[in-house]
Order: sequence, then structure tokens, then C-alpha cells
Amino acid sequence: MNDIDFTLLAPRLEKHKGEAGSLIAVLQEAQELYGWLSPELLAHVAEETGIPPAKVMGVATFYAQFRLKPVGKNLILLCQGTACHVNGSAEIEKAVRDYLGVEEGEITPDGLFTYNSVACLGCCSLSPVMMINSKAYGNLTGAKTVEVLEKIKSGVDAK
Ligand code: FES
Repeated sequence: MNDIDFTLLAPRLEKHKGEAGSLIAVLQEAQELYGWLSPELLAHVAEETGIPPAKVMGVATFYAQFRLKPVGKNLILLCQGTACHVNGSAEIEKAVRDYLGVEEGEITPDGLFTYNSVACLGCCSLSPVMMINSKAYGNLTGAKTVEVLEKIKSGVDAK
């Protein structure tokens, strides 16, 4: 797949630029955003950091925390930043987990969803926020969250 939106990763790469030994942190953040480390994503990280591709791949395969296999068709990012936390991110996470019936990082049996918790998504005024396939859903409640997921499941929204 060549439709990865690398712009999400750009600020994270910038943050770690020039930092010695930052590769693990960069890969963690990349995985947080995209759910898994695809070959295209690893190649992009190598290119942007100047770290040889073989080394990037070596680190990604060495640590068990890194997923080298795909996630569900729709990747849900649950914001756990301060503003979202204060405004009820726990309720949103519970609604997502109950609706999907899987744990963080797992794929639902129908292959449609995976969710991951992430740090601030950068749209705190909409908190609590979740992002699905690069689209932000804000001012969420548990009920509204389920509504969004149901729409996506029935093919009305997102991809
Ligand atoms: S804390 Fe959730 S978007 Fe900033």
C-alpha cells in the first residue's frame, strides 16, 4: 500500500532530529500513529533519519513491541493527552473497547478495526478526540463514539 499519509509523522521526526539513539522512540511513535510498521514506513524512517535501512529493520525486528503485521482496515487513534483525559477520554476508550470487543492493538474478527492510544493529536479544543484514518472526531461522548463506529461499520463513513 502506497497511500500512507506521512505528514502525521513529520512533527515526530522533527522532534527527534539529531538525537542520538532516537530510532526506538521514532519507531514507537510511528507505530502509535499507523498501528504497525509497514515496509514503506520503515523505508521512510530510514530516509528521513539517514539511518541505514538495514539498521532500521534490525531494530524493528529485534524488539517484540514492534508490530510488523497489518492492523484492521480502520485504525482508531484514541487521544490520551491531558485535555482529552480531563474531558473524558476514559469513557471514549471504554465505549470503543466494549463495541469492538478486542484489546488495544488487536484486529477485530471482521478485520475492520484496530485501536491504539496515542498522545495529544493536536486538536485539544475538540477534546475528547479520536482519529480514524486521519479524520478527527471531536467532542465525543460514549454514545457518539458508538454512533461513529456503527456508521463506519455500515459503510456510511470513512473508508
Ligand atoms: S489532548 Fe487530545 S487532542 Fe490534545
